[in-house]
Parts: sequence; C-alpha cells; structure tokens
Amino acid sequence: MSIKVLIVGSGGREHALAWKIAQSPQLEKLYVAPGNAGTGKWNIPIAVNDLDSLVKFAQKEQIDLTVVGPEEPLSLGIVDVFKEAGLRIFGPTQAASQLEGSKAFAKTVMDKANIPTAKWAVFEEPLQAKDYIKKIGAPCVVKADGLAAGKGVIVAEDLKTALDAVDEIMDGKFGNAGRKVIIEEFLEGQEVSLLCFADGVTACPMVPVQDHKRALDGDQGLNTGGMGTYSPPPVWNSSIEQIVCQDILKPTLEVMKQMGIPFQGVLFIGLILTQSGPKVLEYNVRFGDPETQVVMARLQSDLLSVLWACTEEKLAEVELKWSDEMAVCVVMAALGYPQTYEKGILLQLPQIVGTEGIVFHAGTSFENGKLVSSGGRVLGVTSWGKNLVEARKNTYALVERIDFPRSYYRHDIGSKGL
Ligand code: AMP
Ligand code: GLY
Repeated sequence: MSIKVLIVGSGGREHALAWKIAQSPQLEKLYVAPGNAGTGKWNIPIAVNDLDSLVKFAQKEQIDLTVVGPEEPLSLGIVDVFKEAGLRIFGPTQAASQLEGSKAFAKTVMDKANIPTAKWAVFEEPLQAKDYIKKIGAPCVVKADGLAAGKGVIVAEDLKTALDAVDEIMDGKFGNAGRKVIIEEFLEGQEVSLLCFADGVTACPMVPVQDHKRALDGDQGLNTGGMGTYSPPPVWNSSIEQIVCQDILKPTLEVMKQMGIPFQGVLFIGLILTQSGPKVLEYNVRFGDPETQVVMARLQSDLLSVLWACTEEKLAEVELKWSDEMAVCVVMAALGYPQTYEKGILLQLPQIVGTEGIVFHAGTSFENGKLVSSGGRVLGVTSWGKNLVEARKNTYALVERIDFPRSYYRHDIGSKGL
C-alpha cells in the first residue's frame, strides 16, 4: 500500500512520530502541520486548531491517514470533522476526548468500570469543596475539572494550601476549566505512563515509561510538560502489566463502548504504583510528550501499519515488537521555562553517526536559514543502550555535544531506575 499521511502538531512528540512513520515501507508522502525545524522537509503552515484548513488540505492532497498529536484539536472535535468529511483519521472523537478534557467525566468512567483510582468528589460551589477538604484533611489533591495546560493540579500537603487551591482554581483564572473542582485522596508511589493503542474494541499497551514532570533535579521546581523520560522503568513487571490490562485497560474500553463513545486512538494511562496495587491518576487521549520519544525509539514494528489497523478495528491482528534496549530522552529547555523564557536562541547540533541517538526537535524553527529556539521545551535528546547505565551515558554524551546557550536540562533522568 502507498499511504499519504498528515501529522498534526509541532512538538517533540510529532517529530518522533514523523521520524518513525518516515521509515515505513507503506509511506508514499508525509506532511506535518505545522511542524518544527526537525520536521522541516514535511511541514505545511497550518495551525493545529485551524480545523477547516486541515480538512481542506487533506481533501486537496488526498491524505489517506491523519494522525493527531496534541489534545487541543482533539477536544475541538478534529476527528468528528474529518470523519464527517469521509477522511480517515487516527484519534478519539470529541466525546471520547472528554477522558482527558474533563476530570469529572474521567472519574465517572472509572467508577462505572470499577477501576482502581483515588477516592474523589466534585464540586461547583467553593464552600462545599472547602467543607469536604476540612472533613478529609490534608494531604489531598485539588484539581481543576478541565484542561488547564498542566497547571490545574495542586498536591496540597497542608489544609491551608488545599483551601487556597480551591479559590485559585475557581476564581476565574482557568475560565471554564475551573468551573468545577475535584478533590482527591492523596496517593503515594512511583508514577508510570502507559500509552496504549486502541481501536474502539481492542487495546494494546506500548512499553511503560517514566516521565519527570518537575523542572529541576530531584523533582524540585515547577511542574512542566515533562523534562525527560526513560523506558522501561524497573518498577514495572509483567504481573503489574497483567493487572493493568485486566483491571484498567479492558474495562475502560468496555465502558466507553457501552456509553456509545468507543475509544479509538492512544489511551494514555497515568498510573501510580501504590502499596495496594496500580491506580489510575488520569487518562490522556493522545501520545505523551516526551513519552513518545522513547516509545518510538524502542518500537520495532511499522507504526503506520499499527495506526492503520486501529482505524480498521483490526488491532487484534497486530503484534507489536519492541527493542530490548533501554531508551532515555533528556529535554533541553530554554532557561526560565515553564515561566517566561527567551526565544530565538541560535542552536548548533552535532553530526550524528549511525545509531548513536537522535535529537528530536520541539520548540525550534528556522529564521533566515538559521536554526533557533522558538519554545520552552526545545530539544528531546534521545539515545539507548543495553541497560539504563549505558542508555543514560549515551544520551547525556549527546546532550554535551549540543551548543544551546542559556539552556537547562535535568541531570537525573532515569536515576530513579538505577
Ligand atoms: P494529573 O494531571 O491528574 O495526572 O496530575 C498531575 C500530577 O499530580 C500527577 O502526575 C501526580 O504527580 C500528581 N497527582 C495527581 N493526582 C494525585 C493523587 N491523587 N495523589 C497524589 N498525586 C497526585
Ligand atoms: N508528558 C505528559 C503528557 O504528555 O501529558
């Protein structure tokens, strides 16, 4: 088959997807909208939320398969719009995207499917939320219901922080996303991201990944979109995977189907491995960033065939093959990220020989023919090795060879797994 593919997005995740899809023997032509400097040769200048122009482009170029990276176009309904236009697209519908778009919706699905998760309650009135917090006490977790760019979750160690968090979320700063507030039991354990392919009926987990959400070494500093990943984390094992598949993944798909909103796309399960077993912290409805960078580095199967099979409801016929090597991705960010940071910094990347690694671009672009930074998370330096020590050594060796003034990165990606 010769397939024309359009990838929607512009981050490190999309560069990793493009890198993998470009290796497919099935590929005829690839486009990335709008992409970054790393995906330059495939880019078309259409924004991820410009659904009209994306549909028109896909029709004009006779795109056979569109793959959506970020949550924004998904929650805007890009999948519904494409399907209505008779275009094949990989991703969940707007209704199914509520698994990420509304934490109250996600929790309702978890309860229906009897899925292990933190005890919770949802409120529209700040006073009631505060009464509930006083009843359960601290520590607890206060969350905005809707999408809040990763800033809507406050893990409160004391009562005052929790009570203040309710005001902060509900005083309008988050708009509609803060109309409802969720209060959750505080859970303890190591976190693991499990991305799963899903075709509406069947789901198949990818390899497990551990992300590093805080900006600084030792899990200090502000929350970010993710400062680095590695796979697989040694806390994971086949018995945990079996429990997650049986008690979490399968029932989630079943309940979504029963509700009339089958889930097709990537179901990203944010897990916490507690003393009483794995529990769900959250669902995302898309590939993770920077989880995808290490997952793609380890995927040996043809990604394009897997995505195609999902859109045909034939995932059950696919066998995924993974490399036994460990992979590590270190994000290089502009100083100041996730708050204000400089853009337009000149970047110089080393020549990479053979299979020593890959530098995935995120916030990069070309200005007057020069490679410059254009975002907070700029590069996702990724490499691998036969064990974690070697994979970290190879990745950090590559980081050292990158010329990126006024940047920072974490030095401890993967060290939890050593
Ligand atoms: P979420 O976006 O819901 O995954 O929350 C973001 C981060 O907050 C998670 O990755 C956890 O580190 C933390 N978190 C969320 N919910 C809980 C919880 N119930 N107990 C402990 N930590 C949590
Ligand atoms: N790295 C976490 C996410 O993609 O949401």
